[in-house]
Amino acid sequence: MTTVNDVFDVVANDPIAEMAALGRSQGVYPYFLPLEESEGTEVVMEGKRLVMAGSNNYLGLTYDPRVRAAAIDAVQRFGTSCTGNRLLNGTLAMHVELEERLARFLGKEDALVFATGYQSNVGAISALLGSAHIAVCDKEDHASVLDGVNMSGAQLARFRHNDPADLEAVLDLYVDTPAMVIVDGVYSMSGDLAKLPEIVSVARRRGARVYVDDAHGLGTVGPGGRGTAAHFNCVGDIDLIMSTFSKSLASVGGVVAGSAEVVDFMRHHARSMVYSAALPPPNTAAALAALDVLESEPDRPIRTQQHAERVRKELRAMGYDCGTSESPIVPILIRDPFTTVTAWKALLDRGVYTNAVLAPGVAPGREMLRTSYMATHTEAQIDQVIAAFADIADIVRPGQVES
Ligand SMILES: Cc1ncc(COP(=O)(O)O)c(C=O)c1O
Repeated sequence: MTTVNDVFDVVANDPIAEMAALGRSQGVYPYFLPLEESEGTEVVMEGKRLVMAGSNNYLGLTYDPRVRAAAIDAVQRFGTSCTGNRLLNGTLAMHVELEERLARFLGKEDALVFATGYQSNVGAISALLGSAHIAVCDKEDHASVLDGVNMSGAQLARFRHNDPADLEAVLDLYVDTPAMVIVDGVYSMSGDLAKLPEIVSVARRRGARVYVDDAHGLGTVGPGGRGTAAHFNCVGDIDLIMSTFSKSLASVGGVVAGSAEVVDFMRHHARSMVYSAALPPPNTAAALAALDVLESEPDRPIRTQQHAERVRKELRAMGYDCGTSESPIVPILIRDPFTTVTAWKALLDRGVYTNAVLAPGVAPGREMLRTSYMATHTEAQIDQVIAAFADIADIVRPGQVES
């Protein structure tokens, strides 16, 4: 008699479940922890007030009265949901306004708003690429980029993180295949900026298109928070700029901006747009209101950057390894899973919330505490973060902290 494997064998044999059980039994399981309250820079967990140093709320706008009022007003006027896709019955005048505003803000002809950042990448990439194409992706590209490539049926090639010479070597292997180079603007874990001028010049020499996922760049880098391409003054050289509303824009949703022709093509062919319900009214209104604040208060991204710069400087002086960070994302590389969760828990005990990031979220050996900063953090809150790291230095194994 043949033994039929059960598809749920994958559950029984899951190595992550084993790690999670170990973490839970030792009180150091760092995921899915419910927050009882959240006011942006401070949250309450298990009754304890913590400084939030692990959120993507870079401009601190999720709790801004203007953004909250806009979301509430949108619910009053339009209800809670669009209950359908953009194509058939789910497009509101607000979606169109947001697309026009974001296209202008990002320096592109047109833009398309999706229900999430994830869906933006999956929809745009899978609409444009097919089996005759190759996607050439940075090794640290976001999972949604890779899922979009996978769904498209295109070949996938990876190049070493932020290494234009390696990109060139990879493109040379596929000279006859139409290519799209896909990079993040600001890398979500390392916190460094893509070397866009060099990447663009390599891509142009090889006739490849360039797509930038600027989920973490919009609102944090470039003049007035216009993003990584604006920072490098190369907006015109980037074919498509994608971003999300779930970080600086204090909402959920995403956008892909580019030429009018390409955006209109995506309007009809991006499956995550055509076959999924539209961004709900309160989220659309919140993103619009956050964009208003960003445009009228261009100092906000600067404050975010100043906090991150201060933390980086002080942590590096203590001997912590912040890698190549140059944005509001400041990783502390621990390079070992158990020490990472132990340090994470010790920081929580000292009133500081960070993110413990383990494989497969990062490559094995790059386990880290990911911290990130908000325009609305006070100096006292930043002091508390720095003091907590000073206090836990002896928890991080010898050799990791060199002071
Ligand atoms: C670089 C990058 N791209 C895309 C996404 C997906 O965006 P969202 O969470 O808004 O769906 C994220 C979110 O973590 C991200 O970091």
